[in-house]
Amino acid sequence: MAMIHQDVEKILVSEEELRAINKRLGEQITRDYAGKNLFIVGILKGSIYFMTDLTRNIDLPLEIDFLGVSSYGSSTRSSGEVKIVKDLDKAIEGYDVLLIEDILDTGRTLQYVSEMLQSRKANSIAICTLLDKPERRAPEVNIHPKYVGCDVPNEFVVGYGLDYDQKYRNLPYIGSLKRSIYE
Ligand code: IMP
Ligand code: MG
Repeated sequence: MAMIHQDVEKILVSEEELRAINKRLGEQITRDYAGKNLFIVGILKGSIYFMTDLTRNIDLPLEIDFLGVSSYGSSTRSSGEVKIVKDLDKAIEGYDVLLIEDILDTGRTLQYVSEMLQSRKANSIAICTLLDKPERRAPEVNIHPKYVGCDVPNEFVVGYGLDYDQKYRNLPYIGSLKRSIYE
């Protein structure tokens, strides 16, 4: 029988730490966006666990939508060639858009997405990422997240939305995988 917890090498961000992150970021966003027209956009699919927990910690009226992006290339790195597979359902003109991402790695995905959204006349566009690998940022990328859950070391992580080959998203924490899984 295939189980998922046994494939985890190490827990990097525990369920308790994730709860604390969601509470802290939710409170910050509640303060920063009071009186604004908040539109939460989750980047599919990695952000959905984070987005559902984070938004329940935001005490403001808000709308949610999803942007489906798929990046070409291998399963453990992104090429920066991003394809939009699900666009937003409505125009974002006049909204204060907060993009929710699972992890900021090279930053190429979010660079592409934010450039695409710039032309749509949102009132503001900002980024909230659960995880950041700052030392992995590509030199041509100019992305500065307004909110970061926590930094993670430069290793491949899974869980709480993040996948390896589309699996392990349902782990309730963030962990690294045993080498035998991806080698
Ligand atoms: P970027 O365009 O290089 O910033 O890559 C962003 C996307 O790559 C994320 O939304 C993830 O889907 C994926 N990614 C990057 N690093 C990891 C990781 O360590 N685990 C799982 N997915 C990752
Ligand atoms: Mg992703």
